[in-house]
Amino acid sequence: MSAESGIPTFRGASGLWKQFRAEELATPQAFASRPNLVWEWYNWRRELIGEAKPHAGHEALLLMEKCIPHFTLVTQNVDGLDKQAGIQNVVKLHGDIWQTVCTRCGERRENREVPISALPPHCQCHPDALLRPGVVWFGEALPAAEWDRAVEAVENAELLLVVGTSAVVYPASSLITIGIRNGAHTVEINPQSTPLSHEMDLCLAGSAAELLPAIASALESDA
Ligand SMILES: NC(=O)c1ccc[n+]([C@@H]2O[C@H](COP(=O)([O-])OP(=O)(O)OC[C@H]3O[C@@H](n4cnc5c(N)ncnc54)[C@H](O)[C@@H]3O)[C@@H](O)[C@H]2O)c1
Ligand SMILES: [Zn+2]
Repeated sequence: MSAESGIPTFRGASGLWKQFRAEELATPQAFASRPNLVWEWYNWRRELIGEAKPHAGHEALLLMEKCIPHFTLVTQNVDGLDKQAGIQNVVKLHGDIWQTVCTRCGERRENREVPISALPPHCQCHPDALLRPGVVWFGEALPAAEWDRAVEAVENAELLLVVGTSAVVYPASSLITIGIRNGAHTVEINPQSTPLSHEMDLCLAGSAAELLPAIASALESDA
């Protein structure tokens, strides 16, 4: 969803940072063994995201939220461009890059420093307490309350727009199968096909910034 705001996707070629792939850095193991390296990567991402602006696709979702009852945006993106665009009902499955969490006391705090200069950052609760980015890493459980909200939204959805996911990361991808099982009309918006493309009612091969505005204006003129 944020690719056209200049934020690389995880598995695309432009998702590389130095010689590392996101899957090698966004893990608890990477943070345990090389916290500074992981934080340098997050500093780089926070710099990119800090300069990014929502695109026409985000504006289109905002328009949909205004004209569709029970609109819910479930996202794996941690950049907050959705809220920046004004979208209210956002379920953040993977947390928020603008938050830190203490690995010792668990306190979650907003942190907008770019770049964070003293690496790795520490919590005030203890001299050894490292702060980590407030996001969900590979191999970690999704936040239960967010997951429940996402499942409820998908179970009750008449229309499920699946935008810009490779649909390979479980359990997020199982939301799509839940929607299909519960009889939602399913539409995939992605320039490439995914392992779930053949199960969709409709696949639109194109980008979020290009296709979402077209859908939003059609819905708006229908409403
Ligand atoms: N903890 C985290 O920080 C975290 C973890 C997983 C995913 N994410 C975010 O969620 C996104 C989706 O997760 P994923 O695991 O499916 O990522 P992914 O990188 O595997 O897949 C990205 C998908 O987006 C599609 N795409 C690229 N440009 C597009 C565009 N302009 N419009 C529509 N689709 C486009 C690609 O074809 C691909 O299918 C990631 O790109 C990443 O930004 C964040
Ligand atoms: Zn602490």
